[in-house]
Amino acid sequence: MNKRVKNVEYSGIRKFFDQVKKYKDCVSLTVGQPDFKLPKPIEEGVMRAIKEGKTQYTINQGIPELRERISRYLEEEYSIKFSPDEIILTAGGSEALFVTFNTLFNEGDYVLTPSPGYPAYENTLKFVGANRVFYNINKDGEIDFESIEEGFRNNNINGIILCFPNNPTGLALSKEDKEKLYGILKKYPNCKIISDEIYSSISYGKFETISEYEDLLDRIILVSGFSKMFSMTGLRLGFICSKSPYKEELNKIHLYATSAAPSIVQYGTLYGFDEALKDVEVMRSEFEKRRDFVYKRLVEIGFKVKKPMGAFYIFPSLEDITTKNSYDFCVDLLKDGKVACVPGSAFGELGEGSLRISYCNSIDELKKGLLRIENYVKKERE
Ligand SMILES: Cc1ncc(COP(=O)(O)O)c(C=O)c1O
Repeated sequence: MNKRVKNVEYSGIRKFFDQVKKYKDCVSLTVGQPDFKLPKPIEEGVMRAIKEGKTQYTINQGIPELRERISRYLEEEYSIKFSPDEIILTAGGSEALFVTFNTLFNEGDYVLTPSPGYPAYENTLKFVGANRVFYNINKDGEIDFESIEEGFRNNNINGIILCFPNNPTGLALSKEDKEKLYGILKKYPNCKIISDEIYSSISYGKFETISEYEDLLDRIILVSGFSKMFSMTGLRLGFICSKSPYKEELNKIHLYATSAAPSIVQYGTLYGFDEALKDVEVMRSEFEKRRDFVYKRLVEIGFKVKKPMGAFYIFPSLEDITTKNSYDFCVDLLKDGKVACVPGSAFGELGEGSLRISYCNSIDELKKGLLRIENYVKKERE
């Protein structure tokens, strides 16, 4: 057995999710996938791809037409400039992250990693043997820039992982934060920048990204995909954007990992892309309504919480609610309150003291869930 595998942990989110299944009639606010159906244009596109017999391997980088469409989309929507040749289509954002970390980092490297953060970062870095240097993105519900600076000062940092809009906090970059971050990154030209932008299409204000700075592009590896944007988590389509020499090296590892992303999904996404963008706006605006509702209710109940700027998660603090740790609180909330939320500790050390609520649920279901949380918190405080 590879000895590094022993250090890798099974996802805390999945572990909790497995527990949830044991409880009947519980409202689950745990899932990280949109509850919307696959947009019709993508569904029809995938069917068309099957009918056309697009079932063979594609070239391993992915079909040029879809890479061209993504390149155009990134430039038109977000002023991000990667040519079609600088894009690799992958089997979901997960493969994109796995390939990126395995290609970029050596055993013993130091990587600035957000905490709380998406568990794949920490665990894939463990698998690679790289050291994680955590920076806090939940201090008072903001990015703790001082912890980033401190990470750079105290270690020879090889890379930084950015994730905005963020899982699990819903935090996104404001224009000021983006500029501040740019100022820091300019000072460290040897640091590779991995920008996970999988939630970019679910932004409640203008999506701000470090990838728009052309003078950083030669060391940015942008990871993204369609799981959230087109509500197609099961279809497995993601992508990596990067310049030479990274792109050639990333493509080698991608080749040996999966050969190519699923052919019918590549073609289906291409065929449905333009029309499905209308569905993206419908989903985004529905998520915004839910965000407003959940935020308002949590404040009413007495949680300290930052209003999310993107994605479909909210990360309230347990500080004024309970003395229990987040895991025990979530287990009791599940058993006694019949609501499942993910303990903040599932997202790393600095996630402790909060819980993640996903609002990928109808307003009615969210109303029910929040009423149960309110009743449970009342009892907890008695
Ligand atoms: C921040 C972040 N990055 C990447 C992924 C992986 O996405 P995919 O489902 O496309 O593998 C997720 C999934 O939840 C995520 O939250």
